This record gives sequence, C-alpha cells and structure tokens, in this order.
Amino acid sequence: MTNGFRGVLIGCGFFARNHMNGWADADGAEIVAVCDLDRAKAEAMAADFGVGAVFTDAAAMLAAERPDFVDVATTVEAHRALVELALAHGAATVCQKPFAETYADGHAMVEAAARADRPLLVHENFRWQLPLIELRRRLHADEIGAPTFARISFRHGYDVYAGQPYLAKADRFALMDVGLHLFDVARFLLGDARNIHCRTQRLKPEIAGEDSFLATLVHQNGAISSVECSFWSKIAPEPFPQTLIWLEGRRGTLELTFDYRLRVHHGGAVEEIDVEPPVPSWGERPWHVVQASVAAFEQHVVDVLSGFAEPQPSGAHNLTTLAMALAAYRSAETNATIDLAEFVAGGAVS
Ligand SMILES: NC(=O)c1ccc[n+]([C@@H]2O[C@H](COP(=O)([O-])OP(=O)(O)OC[C@H]3O[C@@H](n4cnc5c(N)ncnc54)[C@H](O)[C@@H]3O)[C@@H](O)[C@H]2O)c1
Repeated sequence: MTNGFRGVLIGCGFFARNHMNGWADADGAEIVAVCDLDRAKAEAMAADFGVGAVFTDAAAMLAAERPDFVDVATTVEAHRALVELALAHGAATVCQKPFAETYADGHAMVEAAARADRPLLVHENFRWQLPLIELRRRLHADEIGAPTFARISFRHGYDVYAGQPYLAKADRFALMDVGLHLFDVARFLLGDARNIHCRTQRLKPEIAGEDSFLATLVHQNGAISSVECSFWSKIAPEPFPQTLIWLEGRRGTLELTFDYRLRVHHGGAVEEIDVEPPVPSWGERPWHVVQASVAAFEQHVVDVLSGFAEPQPSGAHNLTTLAMALAAYRSAETNATIDLAEFVAGGAVS
C-alpha cells in the first residue's frame, strides 16, 4: 500500500537529501525506490528514509517499479539520458537544474515529454521560496504600480565547494548554477526578457569557471533588471543563501533585505514585514529558505500529477531560462547585447 503517487529517485547525492525530506512531507506521493551508480549512496539513502528498493541501474529500476513519476537529482551531464528514459517508461518526470548543458539537449527532453504526453518539470525551486512568492503577490496586488526596474542579487562567500566539489571544476559555473535560478526569478517577477548583456569574473583563483557575473536584461514589458551573483564576496554576517531584491514600480518600491525583511515603500512611508520561511522539522538555518522551497515545489508536483496545476516551471518554460544563461556567456565573450529571440531562432545557441 503506498501513499498516493509512486515515485522513484535517481541520484542520491548531496542535494537529494532535501528531495527525500520534501517527499516525506508531501501529501499524496511516496518514493518507493532509489537509484545511484554508487550502491553505497543508494543504500544509505534508502536506509535513512525507509525505502524498500535500491538500484544502481535506472533502466532496471523503471522496468521493475513502473513508477508514476521519476525525480532526477543527478548532476547535469546525466539529465538528458535519464529524462528520456523516464518519459519512455511513461512516467511524469522532474529534472534538477541545470536542465541541460546545451539548448539541443534541453529541446530534445521537451520533445520527448510532448511525444510521451507526460508532464516534465524542472526542479527550479527559487520561485517556490516564500519571500519571493510574497514579493510577487504584492507586485500583482498593484501595491507599487507597474514595475520599471529590479535588482536581483545573490552575493556571498559561503564555501559551496565543500558540499559540491564539482562546482570548482565546471568551466561554466556561476551562470549555470545560481544564474539560472536568478534568471528564472527575473522572469517570475518581470516576465520574459528581450535581450541580455553580461560580464563575468573569476575571483577565486583555484576554480575553472566564472564565480561572479553581472547581467542586465530588458524585459518585454519595458522594465529593466540587473541580475548579479558572486561566490567570493566578503560580507558579515554571511548572507548565503538569500536572494536580495530591489523592485521599483511607478508608485512604490518593494525591497527584500537581508534577514528576510520585506519593505514596502509607498506613499512616502515604509512598511516592514517579516517574511522568513519556517525551518522545516528536518531542516536548518541558513538552508531553510531553500529547504522549504524544495518541499513547496514537491507538493506542487503532486498537484500537477493530480491534474490541479500546470508545471511551474515546465521543461519548455525552463528552456528559455537556459537560453538566457547561454546567451549571457555569448555576451560575456563578445561584449555584445544578445537579442534572445534571434539567439534561439538563429540556432546559434551553445
Ligand atoms: N535547486 C537547488 O537549489 C540545488 C541546490 C544544489 C544542487 N542542485 C543541483 O542538484 C543536482 C545534483 O547536485 P548534487 O550536489 O546533489 O550532486 P552529487 O554529485 O552530490 O550527486 C549526484 C549523484 O548522482 C549520481 N548519478 C550520476 N549519474 C547517475 C546515473 N546515470 N544513474 C544513477 N545515479 C547517477 C552520482 O553517483 C551522485 O551520487 C545538480 O544538478 C545541482 O546543480 C540544485
């Protein structure tokens, strides 16, 4: 007897523990099997979360378990093969970000979902962070008028390499890691972008890729945004992993500050609201904003499986976010402003 939809997890690494805790909290879904190329990792995950079946081969797991959904929590290089495999088995599929390394791979997964006629979601959890949801709610409630400008900032000096050593080796790092999250937030708040300009830096000498960037976007509604990220900022107290936002509208400004204060400037006055998310029973500071967003996203997956909601975001939606990060690299290499529609239509996406 299972608790609702039967799911399986592929990839039992660092971040997948948040996935499993979120699934344990979700109402209407249960993870019935886990898989990792490294059997010890899969066994440890199964033991910690009371999962009965352990596999090292995803195809064997899908054939044996015939799950309703598959949660792909591996790093990016395995995504396309695993997502296509899951969809070929008729399972709704959730794929961690980065969705793909190339536009062609992302596009192929979107096509595979259309062929299988199954939902494909990207585990893009920033838009499920409670402070960002509240900020967007107030924007849409017209508290500051039509938006004109946003600064979306994720700057910190937290040692991410300890838990995720692969980040130090990636030729494309900051834009493909946190950049994708921040571009999705920019779309979440201001809608799609027309064009992008970007500059990158590598500040920590020992790593392969860029660990800082500054991108400017012009949105289709005429608003402009500045999207910035650094993994090498010296700030006390350490703000990781908070996203700070300054969002101006024609009648006011919404400000998401350090320590989860949402400040609403309008009519010559400022109101301050506490928007700190709760710490999940299994979570801890400073990760709680991320952990609560994973749980919220996974409950949303259940709603999608139940037919109550459309994927937020779908693979197709996230493909445009991926194109923004790829265009940002092109801009940084050429010092040109990249028109996103031309970039995608021209097939020059790489
Ligand atoms: N959304 C977020 O907030 C967030 C935060 C951290 C990491 N992530 C993303 O999560 C993904 C995983 O990151 P991580 O730090 O947990 O990585 P990790 O390297 O710790 O874990 C990945 C696991 O996948 C396994 N794996 C790889 N290919 C496989 C295959 N074909 N079949 C079965 N298992 C396979 C590996 O053995 C490894 O144990 C990355 O894409 C990362 O960007 C997202």
